[in-house]
Amino acid sequence: MAVKSESYFGEKDLWGFIHRSFTKSMGYTEDDLRKPVIGICNTFSELNKCHSHFNELVDYVKRGVWQAGGMPMEFPTISIGEPYVKPTTMLLRNLMAMDTEEMMKAHPIDGVVLLGGCDKTVPAQLMAAASANIPAIVLTGGPMLNGRLQGRSLGACTDCYGFTLEHKAGNLSDEELATAENSVCRSDGHCMVMGTASTMASIAEAIGMALPGCAAIPAPDSRRRHMSEATGKQIVELVRRNIRPRDIMTMDALENAIRITMASGGSTNAIIHLVAIAGRLGFKLPLETFDRISAETPFLLNLRPSGKYQMEEYFEAGGVPALMKELEPLLHGDCLTVTGKTIKENLASEPRTWNPDVIRPMIDPLDSQGGIAVLKGNLAPNGALIKQTAVSPHLKKHRGKAVVFESPEDLAARIDDPDLEVDASSVLVLKNAGPKGAPAMPEIGQIPIPAKLLRQGVRDMVRISDARISGTSYGALIVHVSPEAAVGGTLALVETGDEIELDIAAKRLQLHVSVEELADRRSGWSAPKPHYDRGYGLLFHERVLQAHLGCDFDFLLPPDLREELLREE
Ligand code: FES
Ligand code: MG
Repeated sequence: MAVKSESYFGEKDLWGFIHRSFTKSMGYTEDDLRKPVIGICNTFSELNKCHSHFNELVDYVKRGVWQAGGMPMEFPTISIGEPYVKPTTMLLRNLMAMDTEEMMKAHPIDGVVLLGGCDKTVPAQLMAAASANIPAIVLTGGPMLNGRLQGRSLGACTDCYGFTLEHKAGNLSDEELATAENSVCRSDGHCMVMGTASTMASIAEAIGMALPGCAAIPAPDSRRRHMSEATGKQIVELVRRNIRPRDIMTMDALENAIRITMASGGSTNAIIHLVAIAGRLGFKLPLETFDRISAETPFLLNLRPSGKYQMEEYFEAGGVPALMKELEPLLHGDCLTVTGKTIKENLASEPRTWNPDVIRPMIDPLDSQGGIAVLKGNLAPNGALIKQTAVSPHLKKHRGKAVVFESPEDLAARIDDPDLEVDASSVLVLKNAGPKGAPAMPEIGQIPIPAKLLRQGVRDMVRISDARISGTSYGALIVHVSPEAAVGGTLALVETGDEIELDIAAKRLQLHVSVEELADRRSGWSAPKPHYDRGYGLLFHERVLQAHLGCDFDFLLPPDLREELLREE
């Protein structure tokens, strides 16, 4: 029953009069006002390339809503696109989550379709849906078509790095560079490798909040329009049946989402977002859960950057439903989804894999376990992450001397200095790039190899930071070190020359400096000055939680969980 909109439009008092009168002035009729109101959160923005086609998708959603007997009302929120936003989109994820939640709660909306796509938008919308808890479906905008150049398939932005490097090295002319620019991104949609956007779209589906098959349909494909219409129809059904996000996003559903992420070689960013979504639901989701599920989940999806293909081939091979079918014995089948049915019921209609080289069978995985491992030790008492499948074998167990950079600026100034004392066995350490430090934890954890070592043929080194990495990064990159340096984590106390030990098999990250020496260094440590002295930046600095707690604002969590986490932080 559409209780909320009825309370706006059904009363014969002054406010009922005003609501009806103002709404009818937009062309809606008396009949329409008796239908459930479906909010369509349209995050179209010319500042967000990945959402450039959303106005068209919204038309199809509206069609579906009308067909099913609902009344669609479109509304905006902020929209965050990776390429433009400075200093990093992560600064604005929580702002978007707050904007979306408050828009949902403040209006006569009985149910909502959330259109997202670029990296931070889907997590922000899922966080909002968890908190507002009104019926909701996520509709992702879909990946770009594969880039094409001279018979090669290209991916954004995995191939952007290569082209700019070759141009810098003098191997590519300005004209050839421009041709490459025109060829990598050639359609609407988000990045088409298994980066953060594709990972989060897959998660929206696996957690039960998007219709089956939604994630992988390319943005310009006519079937995404059909999916948009189907989503519009289905949200009306969810309102009628009063199925809400917290009926769907249970702890078991979160585990399903983690499992799909691990089997997909998904982005490390997904861990922060899933912890944040869990937090909104009142669940504590420790990093150990990710580590456990990663260890027991075969890596099946052969997509770049970890594998060979891209989202277009994934779609043709069956998409997320086919991967879930393959993993069905490991999934919680009784989780409810936005279809109104359980995972098991959705999978009963036999989604199958059309290309077993894209979606590997369980008996022939790319790797016996998932890509992400959680490290602990005195250098990261609350954990750190490493994408273990991307580490050069000789560095999986390594002990070396630290070369420390105090900040991203210090790194930029000195990394290519010919006098920098560094060799292939050194451990590069970057401080003050975490949630409060940089600020907002930018994707700079792929610390560049010093130029002089590159010339000697060195291609990988152990690198440690409290930053994040892009879903497309490669190498022995230890990121999300928690607590971060800017709040006085052990990372803040590391000095050049200290010995650091990495042992991925033992899940250990250890700084070999005595307790007494560390205490001595700590007495001389003081926190760096915040980057902001007013506004949203200051709010972010003061209230953001550490990486292992999901980087949400403490006051956005349910009070019980907030108190528990702040005690532990
Ligand atoms: Fe939006 Fe890559 S820039 S997904
Ligand atoms: Mg990205």
